[in-house]
Amino acid sequence: MKNKSVFFCTECGNETPKWSGRCPACGAWNTIVEQQGSAGKGKKSTSSSGKTPFHTVKAIPLTEIETTDELRFSTGMKELDRVLGGGAVKGSLVLVGGAPGIGKSTLMLQICQTLCAFSKVLYVSGEESVGQLKMRARRLGVAGENLYVLSETNLEDVLASVEQEQPDILIVDSIQTLYNSDLDSAPGSVGQVKDCTLKLMELAKGEGTTVFVIGHVNKEGSIAGPKVLEHMVDCVLYFEGDQHMSYRILRAAKNRFGATNEIGVFEMQGDGLAEVENPSQMLLSGRPEDTPGTCVTCVMEGNRPVLAEIQALLAPSSFSVPRRTSNGFDYNRAAMLIAVLEKRGGLKVSACDSYINIIGGLYLDEPAADLAAVLALASSYLDKPISSDLTAIGEVGLTGELRSVDQLGQRLSEVHRLGFHRCVIPKRHRQKLGALEGLQLIEVSNIGEAIRAVLGK
Ligand code: TYD
Ligand code: MG
Repeated sequence: MKNKSVFFCTECGNETPKWSGRCPACGAWNTIVEQQGSAGKGKKSTSSSGKTPFHTVKAIPLTEIETTDELRFSTGMKELDRVLGGGAVKGSLVLVGGAPGIGKSTLMLQICQTLCAFSKVLYVSGEESVGQLKMRARRLGVAGENLYVLSETNLEDVLASVEQEQPDILIVDSIQTLYNSDLDSAPGSVGQVKDCTLKLMELAKGEGTTVFVIGHVNKEGSIAGPKVLEHMVDCVLYFEGDQHMSYRILRAAKNRFGATNEIGVFEMQGDGLAEVENPSQMLLSGRPEDTPGTCVTCVMEGNRPVLAEIQALLAPSSFSVPRRTSNGFDYNRAAMLIAVLEKRGGLKVSACDSYINIIGGLYLDEPAADLAAVLALASSYLDKPISSDLTAIGEVGLTGELRSVDQLGQRLSEVHRLGFHRCVIPKRHRQKLGALEGLQLIEVSNIGEAIRAVLGK
């Protein structure tokens, strides 16, 4: 018999007997979700065993809990391991999100090659038939006795199969196609996605199965079931990149077992995803030479220095309020730098339309990229190219002063490694810098000096 479903608001917790677009209690839109049985927020006075909580619940001193370190295993892809914080943790639930067609299924199927060498893997696809999976696996060169596939969308059947096969690792592609037939709502709805994830979470925590769940990101950029899933799972990875370009960046939005500032870089090739161990080189490939409006900087992506090209275009505006756009660079930061350039750099840029673009799908949110952005803007305004062997690193303050940045030594090593000959840096820097052969450091104290040193104005 079907359990009766109830609906409740994720904002205020109000229960309603039927679904509606707007919560009658708090007035929030699109927050009503379905749940099996009584949600009964705060009404449960007894535990599932029927006893009162006083008899069953007991807190224990932290010191009395015995644990071993979390068990980690490598996925065979160093870039993925890095984002996971040094490999996947046994019994964790990892959500891999990304736009359709970005390469999530490809990544998951590819890691099966390594995983099935030491464990039993069950790949459940609600999107492709087993025949299609076989074709894809052949194309990716994935074969293994321990890799089991299942084309199924019904949650109970999936769990039954898990029960039967007892896999060490379960991959679910995708959470939006999975559904629990006890709920009335359609697959992919918030209630379904949440319920299915909860069941998979129980599996991960109860049986110690490591679960990878693929989730499609909708147009607004959040995984369907707005943010609901992010709270429930152990790790959230986002696979990003332009579908029309071959480079893909994997980043962690949440990680219960590691840092979230690492990125993994991949390239989509004819036979699957290849790891890019040298992202700086990739990001700088195809860089125009002797063209105004481009400057290279070095940012830290986690512990890894990565070179990025900042492009800027300033053009006389035909509007009373000039247009400002920035892609891959914080909009407000760009507006501030344009104002500083006008007031402290002496260039009349405020009447121009300005466009800033970061090449290769990177998002620069580090102040260390300020100086390069200012120089790219100045170069575009003056129509003078910046020498292609020059890079710039430094934070720009409101008075036009240059401020020191962290890990300057590491950044300069990367700049040196990629064959640049000159680097503009703040005069006052905290660390003592070792000499790097063939790399000249140009120390400046404000943006006026930097512009003069680089563009000769
Ligand atoms: P896919 O992994 O199916 O994307 P997702 O699961 O995120 O929706 O990848 C789809 C794209 O990747 C598709 O446009 C074709 C491309 N692709 C390759 O270029 N090479 C390959 O070897 C594979 C398997 C896919
Ligand atoms: Mg897919």
